[in-house]
Amino acid sequence: MPKPRLLIARAVFPEVIQRLEACFEVDSNQADTVLDATQLAGRLGDKQALLSTAGDVIDEALLARCPSLRICANLAVGFGNLDLAAMSARGVVATHTPGVLTETTADFGFALLMATARRLGEGERCVREGQWTKWSVDFMAGQDIHGSTLGVLGMGRIGQGVARRGAHGFGMRVIYHSRTRLSPADEAALPARFVGMDELLREADHLVLTLAHSAATHHLIDARALARMKPGATLVNIARGGVVDEAALVEALRSGGIAAAGLDVFEHEPAVHPGLLSLPNVVLTPHMASASRATRLRMAHLAADNLIGFFETGRALTPVPAPALSAPA
Ligand code: GLV
Repeated sequence: MPKPRLLIARAVFPEVIQRLEACFEVDSNQADTVLDATQLAGRLGDKQALLSTAGDVIDEALLARCPSLRICANLAVGFGNLDLAAMSARGVVATHTPGVLTETTADFGFALLMATARRLGEGERCVREGQWTKWSVDFMAGQDIHGSTLGVLGMGRIGQGVARRGAHGFGMRVIYHSRTRLSPADEAALPARFVGMDELLREADHLVLTLAHSAATHHLIDARALARMKPGATLVNIARGGVVDEAALVEALRSGGIAAAGLDVFEHEPAVHPGLLSLPNVVLTPHMASASRATRLRMAHLAADNLIGFFETGRALTPVPAPALSAPA
């Protein structure tokens, strides 16, 4: 039997390609060029399998040009780039990489929170640019983390990881809002208190976004939501850029509506809203929350496990849960 044909849309680790080559005829984009929709369709048109990344849009237009495609293994826990309805209608299985990146991503969420609240980026720039000339009593004064109220929006695995770090490591009072409420035992173990969206926005000193992006959560943090937050609050986004209305965020940061923001994800990444680039009270990072070498390797192996398992047994290991609408990561 000929091996099924697989496209690896972006460069991955050689050891993962080696595993895949045992089972697939592999076309790998090791040059790591970002393929636009036409290029992706051109290379995927005769393939049965795809290893995609969060930047590859898999929609009806692409699927129509790739009739032999049977599975798309997304190298990410998020799957907002996949049109699940179109995939399901065409019988294309979608998988993602949950679990293996939880702690690494939660570590980063906390790092970004601390950098943002304690003005790490501003401080570093000031020293490098030779602007540090004297000590002053309110110089680089930011917001405390310890003992403050941490709000978590989207209490999936990563949200719980952030909440655990806040509660256990920094004595924070944790409140959260999520599509699915935790069990009383899980709430007590963190501990974290479920609140309505309004209370979350009103009470959080630091609000961390860890919810999935979907039509239901698009621009959930808009001008109205930002206006309900405390003027001294920090907002951290490690979810997806589309959850935040970036123009409204720029305005809130400019006018003192909130104190600061830490953003690892952007609505049109790698493009960043120009208003954000010129603000001092924003920490900007390039979608790197899961980027430890060990975790990225685990993610790539899990994507490979999904592809291999699907063709060997007919079942993928970690399919995107259905219904997946606005499920937290
Ligand atoms: C990264 O953003 C992921 O969804 O894994």
